Amino acid sequence: MRRNKIAIIGAGFVGSTCAHWAAARELGEIVLLDINEGAAQGKALDLMQAGPIYKFESHVTGTSRYQDIEGSDVVVITAGLPRKPGMSRDELVAVNAKIVKEVCEGVKKYAPQSYVIVVCNPMDAMAVYAKQILGFPRERVLGMGGALDSARFRAFIANELNVSYRDVVGMVIGNHGDAMMPLVRLASVNGIPITSLLPTEKINQIVARTKQAGAEIGGLLKTGSAYYAPAAGSIEMVEAILKDQKRVIPCAVELNGEYGVHGLFVGVPCVLGKNGLEKILTIDLTPSEKEEFNKSVQAVQNLVDTLKKL
Ligand code: LAC
Repeated sequence: MRRNKIAIIGAGFVGSTCAHWAAARELGEIVLLDINEGAAQGKALDLMQAGPIYKFESHVTGTSRYQDIEGSDVVVITAGLPRKPGMSRDELVAVNAKIVKEVCEGVKKYAPQSYVIVVCNPMDAMAVYAKQILGFPRERVLGMGGALDSARFRAFIANELNVSYRDVVGMVIGNHGDAMMPLVRLASVNGIPITSLLPTEKINQIVARTKQAGAEIGGLLKTGSAYYAPAAGSIEMVEAILKDQKRVIPCAVELNGEYGVHGLFVGVPCVLGKNGLEKILTIDLTPSEKEEFNKSVQAVQNLVDTLKKL
């Protein structure tokens, strides 16, 4: 039986942590690629040498050449500059668009059948741009953002209530930016609405913290941005696709009329399986949720407009 092949582009903190989670979860052969000669090779060697200790059935290799990603089933694009403290994700649009273009040309050439997960920021706009360059169908180009933001939302709820992470259900939809939308009405602890477990003031704090979670970490780190949870969110999506799990994960996908949006990537609940995006689940949003969602859509549109002017 052929093993799955996972290419991770960019061997920075997010990329190398993706490789780490993917190896630990034995998802397949992992190729870590970075154009900075030696960076991916060094990290891959280091991770590979942990294999005999943790005994994972995944081989990890590092490279700086695109031909080594040939035939990959899934490609995770983490290459790009991270946010500096005080910087918004949106300020990265010009510099990261250039990187995404180069990466997507390599992916198109060597892994034309792959499922692509876009991680670099501003994630929604980079996903729009990646899809343009790749020319892949929308089922195969997905933005990671909702997976991360939802994990943060759930983590804060679980911590506040002192309950297990696994019993908290909650989603963040919309864009991966300041206008993201934690869906309070549908968040629960095993079906018990959080609105009946927590006072409004606490919930508002959790919502605000979720929206600022990336910035909070960046502010603490001072020289970089988050990577454990962003990488975990990315690999959650990889696993759902490779194992045909039919997981429901909010991710940024190109909407073609769903949620009243046409031709733009916005985070919505998606069923992920062996065909990538298999289905978009529609939530009956209340009028105020719709208004909030539209702000998210507008934020992505503004970035795409900026991108067009570059
Ligand atoms: C964050 C970055 C990865 O939210 O967007 O941490």
